[in-house]
Amino acid sequence: MTDRPTPGPEPEEHLPHLPDDRQDLETLYRLAHVVHSFQELQPLLENLVDLAIRHVNAERGVIFLRDARGDLYPTAARSLYPSELVDAQKVALSVVQAAVHVKESILTPNVQTDPRFSSESAIHYNILSVMCLPLFQGELALGALYLDHGKRSDAFTERDHNFLKAFCGLAGTAIQSAVERERYRQENRYLRQVATTEADFPEIVTNSPQILSILETVDLVAASNVSVLISGESGTGKELIAHAIHFKSTRRDKKFITQNCASIPETLLESELFGYRKGSYTGATHDKPGLFEVASGGTLFLDEIGDLSLSSQAKILRALQEGEIKRIGDNRPIKVDVRILSATNKDLQEQIRKGLFREDLFYRLNVVTVKLPPLRERREDIALLARHYLGLFSARMGKRMAGFDAEALEVLAAYHWPGNVRQLKNEMERLAILLNEGELIATANLAEAIQQASLLQTGDAGASKMKDSLDAIQRKMVLEALQKYKWNKTRAADDLGITRRGLIKMIERFDLDRRKRPR
Ligand SMILES: Nc1ncnc2c1ncn2[C@@H]1O[C@H](COP(=O)(O)OP(=O)(O)OP(=O)(O)O)[C@@H](O)[C@H]1O
Ligand SMILES: [Mg+2]
Repeated sequence: MTDRPTPGPEPEEHLPHLPDDRQDLETLYRLAHVVHSFQELQPLLENLVDLAIRHVNAERGVIFLRDARGDLYPTAARSLYPSELVDAQKVALSVVQAAVHVKESILTPNVQTDPRFSSESAIHYNILSVMCLPLFQGELALGALYLDHGKRSDAFTERDHNFLKAFCGLAGTAIQSAVERERYRQENRYLRQVATTEADFPEIVTNSPQILSILETVDLVAASNVSVLISGESGTGKELIAHAIHFKSTRRDKKFITQNCASIPETLLESELFGYRKGSYTGATHDKPGLFEVASGGTLFLDEIGDLSLSSQAKILRALQEGEIKRIGDNRPIKVDVRILSATNKDLQEQIRKGLFREDLFYRLNVVTVKLPPLRERREDIALLARHYLGLFSARMGKRMAGFDAEALEVLAAYHWPGNVRQLKNEMERLAILLNEGELIATANLAEAIQQASLLQTGDAGASKMKDSLDAIQRKMVLEALQKYKWNKTRAADDLGITRRGLIKMIERFDLDRRKRPR
């Protein structure tokens, strides 16, 4: 045993002390690792810069990429000292421009005295040694890798320069793939947003006078440009109605874009809605139009509007009042022509009273209100929707279902459907998956919650309190035990673990009767 400390791994800054060949191999090995491990553009770029900085012991490094117009912009800016922030504007930009322009890499021992470049920024920012290598994918110049040193002239050798040319050849290919992946992801997201057509929407199935009258309102308001606020419990069809308004309007050939205001943080929501200018914050590597611009000429559906922060409310109000928006980090106003539909399952008047929702915005959004009744207030639709969706899902699965028996239909119609049409639709999908071809659906096939609730129907609507459900469970257990032992009370009580007298009390309390058909 020895108490001499074992030497740790060499600090990475000391890499240049390795024999040159070994260091080259080491960097190549790490390059391969980085290219394989980082599929996303930004981390890939940062790791590449770090690797180059360490290989040549540069003080700072920046990767510039070209935007769609061909202008160079800095994407990853790093220092030899990881905690040090690098201002990517304070570099010898004239060297970068020259390297990209002539598509040749440049090594200068002292940029301040090199007659090829303007020395102004170099002197101003204290830069001496500079090396800049264009990044290529084939013939295409994607941008450049820039490295500098402010304390030493002649900091980089010709050997470093040649090695990094090879390094950049490999890095360029990896960057191009990452750029393409990024673009593909963005396009994909965009297509998912906009590729909705009328054919994608389920038809509105209803027999309810309330919904039919809402559909008349939809016809009336569709042609105009007024804002419509759609309220109603979750799953009542708010989004369906918003689609219907768009597709009956003159904007039907333009985009219908939905933004859920509840699911994302405030700053992200604002950058989605209004877009941003490249460089306005970390990660803003491109100019990005917001949904107000993307939906221009069409309809923007703001879902869950009751969850908007006050700051986002102010910005949306301004957009509606002025008919123009500004991208984040950009002062130029952009005209937009968007129809706003919005939806909420919150009571906005209540939110206004609590100071959580702006009254002025409310009046802007709420020129016309559509209030969708919950499914339990339009029971005539339950059987209709159940048959509709059972038919749809079983057809999709290539089964033919015989439908519901009378009792199951009754149970469905009596259920309070807290999740409204969405819940009913899901239940029908479940049944279509579970049941066999030609089978008639009985109460026992329905979801446990629906069966349970049917036991609770005491004429007292909405009886779903804890006590009621405990009662229902007890009643069901008692009934099952009685049926199992053909109403032999001693054996049933035994099975339930209660006394015979206790069981008789329960039979009275739950009004159970052998001659009654079990519910
Ligand atoms: N009248 C209807 N006819 C046919 N399908 C309907 C009807 N109403 C709602 N649906 C269907 O029910 C589901 C829920 O509807 P939708 O998404 O429009 O509800 P929502 O009110 O926006 O719900 P949430 O508040 O949860 O967002 C959808 O699949 C929709 O197609
Ligand atoms: Mg919705």
